[in-house]
Parts: sequence; C-alpha cells; structure tokens
Amino acid sequence: MALSDISWWIWVILFLLIVAIRDVFVQKKHTISHNFPIVGHLRFLLESIGPEMRQYFVANNREELPFNRIERGWIYASAKKENNYEGFGTDRDIYANQHVFVNNAMLPYKPKENHPNLIDKTFLPCAKIMGAYNNRRRPFRPASVINVSAMSFGSLSAKAMESLNKGVKIAGAYHNTGEGGLSPYHSNGGDIIFQIGTGYFGIRDDDGNFSMDKLVALVEANPFVKAIEIKLSQGAKPGKGGVLPAAKITEEISKIRHVPLGRDVISPPNHSAFKDIPGLIEFIEKIAQLTGLPVGVKAAIGKIEQWEELADLMIATGKGPDFITIDGGEGGTGAAPPSFADHVSLPWVYGFSDLYKVFLKRKLTERIVFIGSGRLGFPAKAAMAFSMGADCINVAREAMLSIGCIQAQVCHTNRCPSGVATQNKWLQNGIDPTLKSERLAQYFKTFSKEFIEVTHAAGYEHPCQFTMRDININVDDKNLTSKLHKTYKYEKSPVAFTSMQDLKDCPHLGGKTLQS
Ligand SMILES: Cc1cc2nc3c(=O)[nH]c(=O)nc-3n(C[C@H](O)[C@H](O)[C@H](O)COP(=O)(O)O)c2cc1C
Repeated sequence: MALSDISWWIWVILFLLIVAIRDVFVQKKHTISHNFPIVGHLRFLLESIGPEMRQYFVANNREELPFNRIERGWIYASAKKENNYEGFGTDRDIYANQHVFVNNAMLPYKPKENHPNLIDKTFLPCAKIMGAYNNRRRPFRPASVINVSAMSFGSLSAKAMESLNKGVKIAGAYHNTGEGGLSPYHSNGGDIIFQIGTGYFGIRDDDGNFSMDKLVALVEANPFVKAIEIKLSQGAKPGKGGVLPAAKITEEISKIRHVPLGRDVISPPNHSAFKDIPGLIEFIEKIAQLTGLPVGVKAAIGKIEQWEELADLMIATGKGPDFITIDGGEGGTGAAPPSFADHVSLPWVYGFSDLYKVFLKRKLTERIVFIGSGRLGFPAKAAMAFSMGADCINVAREAMLSIGCIQAQVCHTNRCPSGVATQNKWLQNGIDPTLKSERLAQYFKTFSKEFIEVTHAAGYEHPCQFTMRDININVDDKNLTSKLHKTYKYEKSPVAFTSMQDLKDCPHLGGKTLQS
C-alpha cells in the first residue's frame, strides 16, 4: 500500500499517538501533559489566548486594569477625533469608594471677548515657569499642561518615538526622553525634557560614569532640549536598576546610549554622580549653571525623611530643583518584577499628598513646578491632581494607547503586536508616524479642551485655580464623601495666576509653533 492510500484520519491518529508518547514518556517538564496526554495541551493553548478572550469578550467595561475598556475607548476616540461621548448617563458606580467628584459652580466661568480659549479651545499652558525662582538662564513655561512622560528609545520603537515627538510638536507639549538618551526620533522639533538615569545613557564616559562635557555638548547641539530631569526612581520599580540585554542592543542603540555592542548593559539602582542629598543639590546646580536649563527630579514616593532633608537644604541654601515629577506606584514600565510594580512605593494620591505637604510646610511650593504621573491622563483625574497641587501632567501609557497600543501588556517580551514597544522591524513597520503623530496631538487637544471645560464648569479660568475644596472623594459608607483637604489634610498653596492672556504673552512659553 502506498503512503497516499492511507486516509487522512489515520494520519491524525498517528500524529496524536506520537504526541501522546512524547507527553507520557519523553518530556519531563509538564506534569499536566504527562498525566493528561494530548488534552493537557489545551490548557496551555487556552492560557495563552486567555488575556485576549477576556479583554474582547468577558471583561466588563470598567473591569480591566491598568486601563479599562471605557478609558481606552475614550483615548482611542479622542485621538481619532471621533465621538467620545457616553450615552444614557454614567455606567460607573458613583457611590464607590475613592470615586472623585468635581464641585461645579452655580454659574460656570465665561471667557470674555478675545479670550485665548475662544481663539483656541485647547490652549492650556502651565501656570508656573520652570527655573523662574532659581533664575536659570533659559527658564521654560511648558505650553501644554499635558505632556509625554519618560519612555526611552529602546523600550519603545523608533516609529513610536517619532510619532510621539511629531505629535507633541503639533500639540505644543513637551516630550520626556526617558533614560535611554536622545535619539534622532526625539529630534523632530517638539520641546524635549532630557532625562538622566543611573546609566547616564548618551552622556556617559567609557566606564559608565556621568560626563558633564557630553551633557553640555548635547544641550548646546539641540536647542529644543528645554529642561533636564534627574530620575531618582519611577513608580513601577523604585530602587531597582535595569538590564538592557545584549540581544536588544542594536548598533543604533549602542551609538545613542554610548554603550558597547554585544554586552549586557546594567543601569544600577543608585546614581554614581552624587551620593547624598547635599550632593544631589550640588549636581542640580552644576547642571543648571553649565547648561542654563531648569533642572528637576523624578521620583516615586515612599519614605519622606530624605525629602524633608532636601526641603530644609533648599531653605538653607536657596538652591534646589526647579521641578519635581511625582510618579505613582500605579505607574507603567517597559519591564519590572511584580513584587516591585505591585508593592513598592505609594499610589499617586498618597505619595503626592505626602510629598507636597513637605514643601508646603516650608513655604517652598512656589519655587517648584509639580508634575504628576500615574494614570492621570483623563480630564477629571487631572482636575483632582491640579486641586492637590500638580501644575502639569505627564502621560506614558495613555500616550501609547493614542498611537495604537492595545494594552497587550507584553512590552517586556519585544513582541508588542502594535509595534509600539518593540525593536522588531516587522512589527513596528505597521506604524505610520505621520498619522500616529496626529492621533497623539488630537488626544492631547481633546484632553486639554475637556479639561478646560471641566475647569470652567467649576467656575475657574485655569486649572491651577482648583483648590482642595473643589473636589470630593468617596471615603466610606459612614462619611460618604469628604473634600480633599479633609482626606489628605492640607490646603494647596495658591498659584500666582493672572490671566490666560499673560501666559500666552510669556517670553518663556514653549511649543512656539502653536503661537504662529
Ligand atoms: C514602556 C515604558 C517605558 C518607561 N520608561 C521610563 C523611563 O525611561 N524613565 C522613567 O522615569 N519612567 C519610565 N516609564 C514610566 C512613565 O514615564 C510614567 O512615569 C508611568 O508610566 C506613569 O504614567 P502613566 O500612568 O501615564 O503610564 C516608562 C513607562 C512605560 C510604560
């Protein structure tokens, strides 16, 4: 009998028999396959497609984390300038614990004739100037209170980076480089905040130490770099360094980061350029002096003693950071162990309120631009953050969603299906940076417009005027809601704000393309 005479079902049975023999007698790794040959494989298959099945068919609208379907849908629709409204009223349990309410005024704020927001409904610059108090040579007023948070080229693809950078240029926002150095994809004209991590990527000598000469040269060569951020920690993995595996170091990444090809690159948990809080202040001042730029720090908050030391030293020396970025424990990352991502550092509201009080008590809040990040990329959340003392919002994953991320949560595998968080050329080739930059810009514009509308509904011209008494939060069943000043036990200090027109006329306003 020829092989072709054997019918197909005999081939199937033969195949299954081979699989069964392999499961029982050959493989030793999987007990389930051994104990339940053939059918045991179904478990692995179902487990691998489980997240997608739950996301598309099972999870309800408000169930998923980090971003539920309604939140993702709002970002997608806003980015595409589609209808982002809800019909039939809210589907949220507005009596739930931690639910946030904005107290609306009886009569909303009404912009007068020729008000900047009648000309541009999305114009929403920062009410404070970075570096004003410390008299930096090149102070910077961010032209948008909504900005792109730190994410490095390496964790995100070149196409994603280019889309974000071109997008912030259109929206007049700034783009934080993340700790992976400044790449050509960050250099499409949007305002840049250059981040310095413990690996000093792009500004390191051959031994991995910080090189001031390289930083100064970088700033001089790239006038769109408007501020420097020293990263102390991030919410998803505070106190944990990182490894960039040799396999992910392409020739391009090796050049940008100034790291050797073919070797793992370690970014340690600690900085080697300074050792303590006085050293940090000295480092900040030196960078500010030599570059002329405002210099800030980014951190996730846990213990508060060293922040108190910093604040005391700021009073004693009259020096210190021009801005502080406070990241929540709910913050995202390209990769982090769950023990860190889930447990180390406080969620944003607790961390921010603890930190702000340190500076408030010492009357230092006017010196500092406070930036918040940690799932704050929605107008009502932003209103809450501003009422607590934030002056700007940084968004990372929300920005990724706006350019096509589908929350597959595989950033750490290099297999991101949307091409946003991978170095795989095939996967990222599906991204059209021209289209995606429009999407990012449109998300920012819609966000700003809705944020301005919420602000007006509360009776204010600019969100910096929100106070702790403008927002209520459900705390528990007995005391159903409590104003923020009671929940977090402080009053935000007023921001010196005159008018939106004055912000528009400010010589230090970034995002100049917006003004033309
Ligand atoms: C893919 C990815 C890469 C990141 N890389 C950095 C980084 O290089 N430096 C940093 O300070 N934070 C980094 N973060 C944290 C974000 O900047 C941000 O603080 C955090 O995700 C919270 O913002 P979100 O809730 O809007 O995502 C990264 C986040 C993501 C998702």
